[in-house]
Amino acid sequence: MRVLLIGSGGREHALAWKLAQSPLLETLFIAPGNPGTAQCGTNVVLDVTRHAEVIAFCHSNGIGFVIVGPEAPLVAGLVDDLEAAGIKAFGPSKAAARLEGSKAFTKELCMEARIPTAAYARFTDLAAAKAYVLAQGAPIVIKADGLAAGKGVVVAESVEQALAAVEDNLGQGVAGAEIVIEECMVGEEASFFALVDGTHALALASAQDHKRVGDGDTGPNTGGMGAYSPAPVVTPAIEARVMAEIIRPTVDAMAKRGTPFKGVLFAGLMITETGPRLIEYNTRFGDPECEVLMPRLKSDLLAALLATVDGQLLNTVLDWSDEAALTVVFAAKGYPAKPETGTVIGVLDQVGAMAGVTVFHAGTKRRDDGALVANGGRVLAVTGVGGTIGEAKDKAYAAVHAIDWTGGFYRSDIGFRAV
Ligand code: AMP
Ligand code: GLY
Repeated sequence: MRVLLIGSGGREHALAWKLAQSPLLETLFIAPGNPGTAQCGTNVVLDVTRHAEVIAFCHSNGIGFVIVGPEAPLVAGLVDDLEAAGIKAFGPSKAAARLEGSKAFTKELCMEARIPTAAYARFTDLAAAKAYVLAQGAPIVIKADGLAAGKGVVVAESVEQALAAVEDNLGQGVAGAEIVIEECMVGEEASFFALVDGTHALALASAQDHKRVGDGDTGPNTGGMGAYSPAPVVTPAIEARVMAEIIRPTVDAMAKRGTPFKGVLFAGLMITETGPRLIEYNTRFGDPECEVLMPRLKSDLLAALLATVDGQLLNTVLDWSDEAALTVVFAAKGYPAKPETGTVIGVLDQVGAMAGVTVFHAGTKRRDDGALVANGGRVLAVTGVGGTIGEAKDKAYAAVHAIDWTGGFYRSDIGFRAV
């Protein structure tokens, strides 16, 4: 089968690396890909915002299956347009991708299907928002939404801090802003993944991300500075509850609405004293979670993704390694605010050849002279695999220390909750 993978991050290198091992794969194209995916297939230049251009490429290259990595093309309806053109595609429709694209949609669905999540309310009015904070008390979570986005999420420990965050978003001089005020859930976070074929859900594996830029979970939020899998906090009993109380009711509610979900459902969870609760949904693989899931998956990824699109998950069983995986993100100095690009990364061959180590590329590029340079915020995801999370961690850090790149930095405590 000839396959086109859309995306260019560490997630897509991990997917391409795994797809390249499939006996079903004839040829793999990646658009636009990165220097890492170029080792697994052929990178192609395509403007994926022009769906007609993607469809034309598929027709002229005999592509039988398209796999969409990131959220933007899903929310833009690329899968709908590919299917309308008769091309099989992995990922949710535009309507189903609202689970990631619209917080309001997901909260409404959670209420309707009685899925455990934080109570919430939306505000555009400063006085009303302040009154709500005073009535609810602290801790409480303030999330910027809509036009004023960028100020992010504040988990306020005190009422004063909450009121300041509200003022920041809705105060004088801020026009057209909207915020969401949420109940603060207390517990340990985990990322949970399931394949969903419209009707059936198949649990993949759990992982834990590290969102803050600095050691000890300090500093601003990032896309993720490292991850490991499995997440010990997601015990078999918790996994069973996540499937029964969160994933299956969501799959059923989406089907009932006439917008069945097909693809990978990524639940951001808070494991609280009373059980798992949903923080938010994403409708794609996580990054860097994918870089620890793929090395642990023993079964054929391509077959599993095809079974998802074909509605065959009921008959699908996946085999996972008992080993643990841990990935350390090597980011460009200045990330997340202003990553410094263009710095030269030394040759990675020897590092990639270390036992139990895989170096996934994210924001890298080849200069005309062949040198590998930083080309984004998160640049490399260095994954170690071992018998325990501790062993995986040792391998990942040994590899990171062997990389010759002075333009980058990394967290030195990935896995601290589990080791
Ligand atoms: P989000 O932008 O919604 O992904 O939230 C970013 C981070 O804020 C999450 O990973 C959590 O650490 C935290 N967070 C968001 N919502 C809540 C909540 N209701 N209770 C506690 N923490 C939250
Ligand atoms: N690592 C979190 C995400 O992919 O959204």
